[in-house]
Parts: sequence; C-alpha cells; structure tokens
Amino acid sequence: MFQGYNYERLLEISKRINWRVDDIIGPDKPMDFTKPFLPESFARTAELEFLTPAERLKFNQIRGFGYLAMFELVERCILPVIEAHAPSRPDQDSHRTAALNNFVVEEAKHIELFVAFRQAFQAGFDVDCGFIGPAEHIGATVRSHTDMGVSLFILAIEWATQQHWLESVQGDEDLDPQIKSLLQHHWMEESQHAKLDALVFFELAASAGSEGVVAGVEDFLEIGLFIDGRLKQQTELDLASLEAAIGRKLVPADRDTFLARQHQAQRWTFLGSALSNQGFLKALGEVSPAARRRIEEVAPAFC
Ligand SMILES: [Fe+2]
Ligand SMILES: [Fe+2]
Repeated sequence: MFQGYNYERLLEISKRINWRVDDIIGPDKPMDFTKPFLPESFARTAELEFLTPAERLKFNQIRGFGYLAMFELVERCILPVIEAHAPSRPDQDSHRTAALNNFVVEEAKHIELFVAFRQAFQAGFDVDCGFIGPAEHIGATVRSHTDMGVSLFILAIEWATQQHWLESVQGDEDLDPQIKSLLQHHWMEESQHAKLDALVFFELAASAGSEGVVAGVEDFLEIGLFIDGRLKQQTELDLASLEAAIGRKLVPADRDTFLARQHQAQRWTFLGSALSNQGFLKALGEVSPAARRRIEEVAPAFC
C-alpha cells in the first residue's frame, strides 16, 4: 500500500482513463510553431540574453523537441524493466501482474505518442535537431545497474513527470495547446505508474533491507552521473541546432555561457526535478531515512 493505493485500485483507475494516441495528435491537431513548447522553468531562455526574442522562441522549441525525445528514450529504457517485474509469486497480491502488465501496455502507447509528436515536430521545424543516442545503448547502460538502482531511477523520473505537469505546464497559458494536451494525458497515466513504481520499490527494499537501499541509492547516483554526461552532450547538440535554426554562429563567449547555463537547465529538467520530488523522497524516506538524506544532500547541484 502506498498513499492508500494498492495494485487493484491503481489498475481500476487506469482502466477508467484509457485514452488513444489519435485522440491527442493527428492531421487535424497540428502543433503551433508560433508558440513555446516548453515552460521557461525548464528552457531557461531568459538567461540567454544574447539571443533575440524570436531566437529564444526557436530555442525553446528545440528544447521542447529534446524533452519529448528524452521521454521517448526513457520510456524505451524502462519498459523491459517493468515487463521483467510483472510475473508474481503465489504469495503476492493477486492483482499485481495484471496491474504491471497494464503499465507495460501504457508505456508502449506513450512511446507511440512521443514518436508521433517527434515526427510532427520534424515535419514542421526548419532544421533537423540532434538528439543523443542510440537509445538502445543508453537504455542498456542504465539497465546494467542493480535492480535497486534502476528501480530508484524509474521511481524518480516517473514522479518528476507528474510534477512537471502539475507545477510547470498546467498553468502555463502561452504553451502550444497540443504539447499541453500531450503532457496532460501522459500525466493522467503516469500518476498511477509513479505509485506502482513505489509498490515495486517497496518489494525490492523489503528483501534488500535498509543497507541494501543505501547501496542502491549510490548505484542510482551512478546512473544519474551517466545521464548527466549525456545531458552535457545534448547541450552541445542543442547549440548546433540553434545556430542552424537562426542562421548565425554565436561568438565564443556567448557559446561558453550557453553551454554552461543550458547544461544546468538540462540538469534541472531531468535530474534536479526528480531528485527533489516530494513523492519520490517520501517513498524513499519510508524505507530508509538515511537514503533520503543522501539524496537531499546531492540534489542542490542539479537544480
Ligand atoms: Fe509514460
Ligand atoms: Fe510511466
């Protein structure tokens, strides 16, 4: 049980939501390229004072593309993990396997959703934007870590996506309505995933003990450092996309400022917002207050 939820209840809520990809995107629902695609709290374009307002909008859209591509990558990475957790022992909750199988089906649908948006972006934007990869290699590296480390990674990122909608996207009236719709629909289902992740994490923690959880946190932080390196690489790809989109090269001092500030903006978007997420910290703190303190210690570097 987590926050009053068990497998049966979470499955029942999911079955009621159940939207389809073509309810959200299709030829009759185009993206609006006159609008931003990502909230300023993630894009941090105001810090790039050497860009004109029109250039900042272009860059915001490039960051929006990166956000969608990153979640497509994350979904591809976590799907096999949930699939592996789905079989249940006879002594486990009788709704557990059905709830986790439904989770897998939803993540497969989310991949399809992110792909559809990526293709709509690529069809409507002036230049091709680079993205880190290949996704299979990044996913395999993450999954090569311990079950506990990977479970914490999934728990953190799925709680973060929920918060992204609630705190940054929902109230932003300037954003492209299609992107908002995507993130709202994704949140509706992620809301159950985050709690299912907590239930799976509690099962792993029960057999690992509190020392195992503390060791798992160190492994999770290793995954975080690996992702941080890829985010730095993404910042360089974003600079190339920006320069191609605005048709000019930034002067060296502005390039350095761009790379430093945008690396931190990427860190906040994908790492800091996860490490400081209250749902994540609460689930972790319930099994190990020491593990929670360790995360709270490192989180500020990613904010
Ligand atoms: Fe998802
Ligand atoms: Fe999910």
